Amino acid sequence: MNRHAVAAPLARLRSGRLTDEEFDSVYRDPWREVSARFWTPVRVASLAAIWLTEGGAKTVLDVGSGVGKLCIIGASLTPARFVGIEHRHSLITAARTAARQLNVHRRTSFLHAQASLPRMRGYSAIYVFNPFAENLYSHLAHLDDHVELTEKRYWRDVSLVEQTLRCLPRGGRIVTYHGYGGRIPDNMDLRREQPIGTDTLRLWVKADRPPTGAYLETDGGVVHVPSARGCSARVLQFGSNLR
Ligand SMILES: C[S@@+](CC[C@H](N)C(=O)[O-])C[C@H]1O[C@@H](n2cnc3c(N)ncnc32)[C@H](O)[C@@H]1O
Repeated sequence: MNRHAVAAPLARLRSGRLTDEEFDSVYRDPWREVSARFWTPVRVASLAAIWLTEGGAKTVLDVGSGVGKLCIIGASLTPARFVGIEHRHSLITAARTAARQLNVHRRTSFLHAQASLPRMRGYSAIYVFNPFAENLYSHLAHLDDHVELTEKRYWRDVSLVEQTLRCLPRGGRIVTYHGYGGRIPDNMDLRREQPIGTDTLRLWVKADRPPTGAYLETDGGVVHVPSARGCSARVLQFGSNLR
C-alpha cells in the first residue's frame, strides 16, 4: 500500500469507524477467516492500546501476537513501540507483511519464539488475549498442527506469565482479554474493566505493596484466592532494564 492508500484506513481507525472486515483485508486466508475467533477485534485492540500506554510505557509486549493485530493497531494509535512474540512462523510472516503495508513496521517487531521468562522480562506493559487456551482445544479447533499443543504445555506457559507478573515493577500493567488462565498477584489493582467484544477487557496495575494472594479471572468474574507464591531470586533479576 502506498502512503495515500494507508491514510484512509488509518483515519477510520483513529475515528473508531474501521471495521474488522476492513482491517482484516490486509491478511490472506486462512488467517482472515479465523479472525473473529483468534484475533483481537479492532475496537478491543484500540482500547487495550490506550490502557497499556496511558501510564507512559514506551514498549508493549503482546504474548502470542498471532497476525499482529494488537501490535499494528497499537502502533497506529499510540506513540509506543509494540513487540509480539509468536511461536508460529507463518503468523510472524503475516504480521510483518501487514505492519509494512500499514506503515508501522518501524514501531513494531515480531519475534518468532515461544513465550519464555527471558523473552517476557523487562516490559512494563503486557497484553494477553488468552494465548494458551488452544492447548486445551480438540485438534479440530487448532489453528494448525505446526506447534506442540498439550495440557502440560498450557500449565507451563500459564506459569511463565504468573512469574512474569510477580516480577513486574510498581506501575507495571497487564491488559487481559478473555483472561489468560493464571493468577494475577493481588498487589496488582484492577483499574479498569469493560465488557467489550466477546468478553471483558481488564487493566491491572502493580501497586507498591507485597502480595497476600491473587486474583483469578473466571467466566463469572474476578475471584480472590489467598497466598500467591513470592517472587524467586532467579526471577527477580528479570525486572531490570525496563522498557
Ligand atoms: C488468541 S491468539 C491472540 C493473537 C493476538 N494476541 C491478538 O490479540 O490478535 C493467541 C496466539 O498466541 C500464540 N501462542 C500460543 N502459545 C504461545 C507460546 N507459548 N509462545 C508464543 N506464541 C504462542 C498462538 O499461536 C496464537 O497466535
